[in-house]
Amino acid sequence: MKEKLDQIEKDVKQAFDAELSAGELEALRVKYIGRKGVLTDIIKSIKDVPASERAEAGKRINDLKRIIEDKVKTASPGRPGHQKAPAAGGASRGRMLDRSLPGSRYEVGSRHPISQMIEEICDICLGFGFRIAEGPEVETEYYNFTALNIPNDHPSRETFHTFFLDLPEERHPKDKHANRILLRSQTSTVQIRIMEKEKPPLQVLMPGKVYRPDATDASHSFMFHQVEGLMVDEDIKFSDLKGILDALCKAIFGARTKTRFRPHYFPFTEPSAEVDVSCIICGGKGCRVCGKKGWLEILGAGMVNPKVFEAVGYPPDKWSGFAFGMGVERIAMLKWGISDIRIFYENDLRFLRQF
Ligand code: DAH
Repeated sequence: MKEKLDQIEKDVKQAFDAELSAGELEALRVKYIGRKGVLTDIIKSIKDVPASERAEAGKRINDLKRIIEDKVKTASPGRPGHQKAPAAGGASRGRMLDRSLPGSRYEVGSRHPISQMIEEICDICLGFGFRIAEGPEVETEYYNFTALNIPNDHPSRETFHTFFLDLPEERHPKDKHANRILLRSQTSTVQIRIMEKEKPPLQVLMPGKVYRPDATDASHSFMFHQVEGLMVDEDIKFSDLKGILDALCKAIFGARTKTRFRPHYFPFTEPSAEVDVSCIICGGKGCRVCGKKGWLEILGAGMVNPKVFEAVGYPPDKWSGFAFGMGVERIAMLKWGISDIRIFYENDLRFLRQF
């Protein structure tokens, strides 16, 4: 038995030392450990081995079996002219490459519906001559309120309406009250940042996230997205604002959409308006979605307040401009008939795959 195993061991080593094709490997596997293989036969005859040698013989047979199995598992086909990765001590020699196996599949994702909506609005406005700009989400009170003509005692400065950041004492801005650090509550901040840096004419679109500590429900989220617009030049009129926003609403909701400008108040524009579109569900007749009004409010807008121009050092008698701001989630919900804002943030693939 011992001699027999010595011989087999020698043969095995020799056989597997060569570069082998997948077919040759399989042939060797069958020869040694197949159903009628050399080693399989020997195992069957182990009962004839004297008891004193049996354990030793059994161990050797098992070792040989394992060696062969390992070689088959890790061997490569060794096709002529296409072998051997640069082997570290020959370790990777003979690794198997089965080209018929299915590859590992990567799930292809898609743009989030909110990103798609932002992209669509940007695309339309690029066509009107706007360029895109972004600003920081962590802001000072100055950019979020003061420069936008929102006075110190305005309710939107209350912690109830704004996320203030808790900074270590040494990092507090000097004028604490007027310049605390916060998560911006509106993208109008970016208007100020652009105008501080650049001179008119300006035509800029500013998308981004905003934060408000609102209780979450079907139409409120503590974080959502806005797109802000700003146009400044020598002779910008309210009719320019109306023309742009009417065209924008028609491009988003369809050519038959009507727009309506209602007087409103925003500190940073004067005059200001809220803009409604004719209800996209009932076309203006009145339904559940528009609360029987026939109109849906979708954005705020107005002529840039001269006080804002003063804050950024533009002479208000030389420049005029308009600004507008809209909530992206609201527009997306109306456009796609989505009734709960929370679904945008839940990463539910059954929802996301529909876009
Ligand atoms: N910042 C306003 C908001 O968050 C939206 C807005 C209204 C932006 C009027 C504007 C504007 O630029 O002119 O509610």
